[in-house]
Amino acid sequence: MRLAGETLIPGDAIQQRVAELGAEISRDYEGRALLLLVVLKGSVFFAADLMRHIDLDVFLDFIGAKSYVGADSQGTVYFTKLPDEHISGRHVLVVEDILDSGRTSAAILAWLEDQSPASVALCALLDKPSRRVEELTPNYVGFTIDDHFVVGYGLDYNQRYRQLPSIYTLKEI
Ligand code: IMP
Ligand code: MG
Repeated sequence: MRLAGETLIPGDAIQQRVAELGAEISRDYEGRALLLLVVLKGSVFFAADLMRHIDLDVFLDFIGAKSYVGADSQGTVYFTKLPDEHISGRHVLVVEDILDSGRTSAAILAWLEDQSPASVALCALLDKPSRRVEELTPNYVGFTIDDHFVVGYGLDYNQRYRQLPSIYTLKEI
């Protein structure tokens, strides 16, 4: 199997938008400490760039959740890692690479609500609203895209292509 794709979002456009998001988050949370809760694994690339544009007392932790095998949603979400940091009383920003059905983020937000955070918000680099199953509106979105399966900048197809600096639509040939 070979894979080919077209560039959907070039790396420099991603970097520019990530800087804008960082500035917006810095303004919104001014005077407060912020815990970035990064959803493994794809969001690690986005979060690392985003965090460098956040001018706050900012902390980093990770949560692992899975609802996907290949390009098909399995519909069930399971946690593969829980955060090390305590959540109670903190301002938490969940950092997602992409919102598709919304099942992963909905499960993470539900779990977080039980931990008594001061606030919870959701930031997604990419949003595919046409695929939404769970009712969910992210607080911060990098780019809204049509119903394509995309890879690059952390996003994978069966764990491949995460290292690409741009985002590509995926085609099997
Ligand atoms: P959801 O639970 O359906 O919203 O799916 C969220 C997760 O599915 C993301 O964090 C990704 O890991 C994966 N995913 C959804 N769409 C894509 C895509 O177009 N490319 C790569 N991964 C995707
Ligand atoms: Mg994935």
